[in-house]
Amino acid sequence: MTRKRPVVAIDGPAGAGKSTAARLLAGKLGYVRVDTGALYRTVAWLALERGIDLSDTQAVVAVAKELAAPGALRLVPGPTESEVVVFGEGLGSKIRTLQVGSAASLVSQIQGVRDALFAMQRALGAEGGVVLEGRDIGTVIYPDAEVKFFLTASVRVRAERRQRELRERGSEVPLAEVESEVTERDRRDSTRALAPLRKADDAIEVDSSELTLEEVIDQMVAIVREAELKLTKS
Ligand code: DC
Repeated sequence: MTRKRPVVAIDGPAGAGKSTAARLLAGKLGYVRVDTGALYRTVAWLALERGIDLSDTQAVVAVAKELAAPGALRLVPGPTESEVVVFGEGLGSKIRTLQVGSAASLVSQIQGVRDALFAMQRALGAEGGVVLEGRDIGTVIYPDAEVKFFLTASVRVRAERRQRELRERGSEVPLAEVESEVTERDRRDSTRALAPLRKADDAIEVDSSELTLEEVIDQMVAIVREAELKLTKS
């Protein structure tokens, strides 16, 4: 099936600015934004909430399957980030803590978890006109995406951003701690056996360290507009 509007994939390491870029890009284009990290965070949150040991792979996969069942989980695009609604209850910032972030990185290394979330992610983008952000969107979930971005920034810049985000949520974490968390997460996300973080061959790399947000978004909008034109002509 050919889509009328593109699927836009944004992959990259933690703190590269994917969430902000995805939100602003989707806003400018009138597309839906899908924050796929929120899905892994929700699996991790619910498993922790139930006191499940994260090394108990079977139990964690059961949680992911439960969440992937029709009607269990909804992603509602919010003003700053996607709100996750699970069994009718909004989770708000409960899934945005450092602890849940690290746990999400762990559960995302389980094949059964990735499988459970695969179909959900495919369905969310099926019609096009969507910006999906994550780690493996351009490589695994949407190898057929019309536009793929790989957004990066230096570890220092990413740690500073993460620290600011956490501060805005009321938690003050020393920069050194955030930096080591970012480095560790990079290492885990890019060396894991399953769907490791890597740039798809046909992805466009955007390094946001030295660019303003406006510059990043302007570049991306121009590229998506070109892809839209190509689709309408084909
Ligand atoms: O982007 P984030 O910090 O919300 O993601 C949380 C974790 O989920 C991250 O450590 C890696 C994992 N993740 C993944 O494996 N694949 C995705 N598409 C998105 C996130």
